[in-house]
Amino acid sequence: MSNAQTTFIMIKPDGVERGLTDEIIGRFNRIGLRMRGRRDLTPPMKLAETHYAIHKERPFYPDLIEFITSGPVVAMAWHGEDAIAASRKLIGATNWEDAAPGTIRADFARSIDKNIIHGSDGEETAAFELGLWFPDGLED
Ligand code: RTP
Ligand code: MG
Repeated sequence: MSNAQTTFIMIKPDGVERGLTDEIIGRFNRIGLRMRGRRDLTPPMKLAETHYAIHKERPFYPDLIEFITSGPVVAMAWHGEDAIAASRKLIGATNWEDAAPGTIRADFARSIDKNIIHGSDGEETAAFELGLWFPDGLED
């Protein structure tokens, strides 16, 4: 049975600053996903706070917001079979020390705070995040 999904992916300011955008987009293309939207922007404070509202009470929240609003990110929508889990697998564990070899975080991240990339963690989160970052909708 097919399970086509669209997920929200964001290359964080450290990934953009380090010139990893094309490398990362290539990896998503290579696993067979298709891009349905891309926005290059420095996230406004309110957008960042809404995106990470679930972490509001966590001790790392203020630093997380400061970091994510510190420079340009690449916000994207990627579509395909099991896109949410496939993307999380490609990205690797939050902490680069736990990330499987060959994942984006294992290859490029060396800090838990600055870990290069974000991916939606479930269907509800994906719908919420896609609506938040792409209020005008997605390409087919
Ligand atoms: P993300 O939401 O960015 O895709 O990452 P994730 O699901 O793997 O991790 P999550 O638990 O949602 O945490 C969101 C982001 O907060 C930062 N973080 N710092 N210092 C810490 O202990 C800590 N824990 C999380 C990371 O930037 C993480 O990606
Ligand atoms: Mg998360």
